[in-house]
Amino acid sequence: MNNKRPIIKIKNIKKSFKQNDHQDLLVLDDVNLELYEGEIVALLGKSGSGKSTLLRIIAGLINPTSGEVVYRGDKVTDPANGIAMVFQSFALMPWLTVLQNVELGLEAQGVAKNERRSRSLKAIDVVGLDGFESAYPKELSGGMKQRVGFARALVVNPDVLLMDEPFSALDVLTADNLRSDLLDLWQEKQANIKSILLVTHNIGEAALLADRIIVFGSSPSNIRTELIVDIPHPRNDQNPKFRLLIDKIYTLMTSSANDLSTTYRYKTITLGYRLPDVQISEITGLLDMLIEPEYHDKKIDLPLVADELHLNIDDLFPITEALEILRFAQVSKGDIELNAAGKLFAEADILERKKIFANHLLSYIPLAYYIRHILDERPEHRAAEERFLNELEDYLSEDAAQETLKVVIEWGRYAEIFAYDYNTGQLSLENPK
Ligand SMILES: Nc1ncnc2c1ncn2[C@@H]1O[C@H](COP(=O)(O)OP(=O)(O)O)[C@@H](O)[C@H]1O
Ligand SMILES: [Mg+2]
Repeated sequence: MNNKRPIIKIKNIKKSFKQNDHQDLLVLDDVNLELYEGEIVALLGKSGSGKSTLLRIIAGLINPTSGEVVYRGDKVTDPANGIAMVFQSFALMPWLTVLQNVELGLEAQGVAKNERRSRSLKAIDVVGLDGFESAYPKELSGGMKQRVGFARALVVNPDVLLMDEPFSALDVLTADNLRSDLLDLWQEKQANIKSILLVTHNIGEAALLADRIIVFGSSPSNIRTELIVDIPHPRNDQNPKFRLLIDKIYTLMTSSANDLSTTYRYKTITLGYRLPDVQISEITGLLDMLIEPEYHDKKIDLPLVADELHLNIDDLFPITEALEILRFAQVSKGDIELNAAGKLFAEADILERKKIFANHLLSYIPLAYYIRHILDERPEHRAAEERFLNELEDYLSEDAAQETLKVVIEWGRYAEIFAYDYNTGQLSLENPK
């Protein structure tokens, strides 16, 4: 592959966003990547790792802070003609029909009316929406809307197709359908597309579609590793080779520099750390499973754990992260193992569990400690959640701050280290001892 010239060359891309007066948020840190003809590349990374940001830079929608994107020899500074993008949210114009929505991109390129129409009709046909040309978006299901999204990208006859989690807003069956249709389209060369870059946080999806998988580290991101997939299409997720691949990707996503040392080093998190969006029942569910005799005292393969809990492997990820940052388990090289505290918790009764959890929350989750500290200090022992939200927004985006606060409140209420009133948004020490 390397003797070919890349279609797209991403060179030393850095991107930071202005956060507030004193701080910039560095999202991408020295990303290098090349896209070659004839390949589907999946860029896999956790939520918030900067995947969308990178795609937008490649598409010329935003500029990097430093570094450059070169497309067929030219530096990309504005949206380039040969590059099209499919977005996660369909972003269709509600007042335009399917046909008009698809024609929109061609209008911008100054294509004449007749040609616009015939090319759009063909694109609509290719994505399987024949007969829906005059329907309005509100008449379409999610899957059909995303088909329009694909048609809109295909109609400009792109050389490179960028896709930002295009299946993540769809239900499982619809997503499966659309994935296999995309694959057919690609293999039968019904479109002129030479290369596809697919951004996803879904390990299974990357394994199903990609010829090459790039694993993104997180905050700030650069490329942690890459993996060539040499399983022919259509891939069967029950095939042992496929299972092995999933296992390997999982290992890559959970391994860090820590794994090189023999003694396990827990990840230490800061006040502004984005907490995984995980409920207490998910944490206790995993602990309950790991204490069962067949798993006791050994390292368990994460894909096995996912199977056992009937979870998609991607949904397991935040839960294992929660166990790790709360220091109930060690997670490394795609395995998980309870530590002494995790075992103690799993074997304890409800009250004892709450105590252990409170102890870990206050010791290892700085935000929980901080909230409790403020409440302890105040004469009335109460504070508005906004106060903490504002503080978190120094480190996180508004959405991430909200989510993180929601998570710490749930964990803190379970541990009874503070109380929370939904109606007033007040945190207090009303019930807790
Ligand atoms: N326009 C922006 N201004 C400020 N911060 C942003 C902006 N866009 C993205 N971010 C931040 O950059 C980080 C990466 O975001 P994003 O690229 O959307 O991640 P992903 O697509 O991997 O979930 C997040 O912390 C997000 O809040
Ligand atoms: Mg994104």
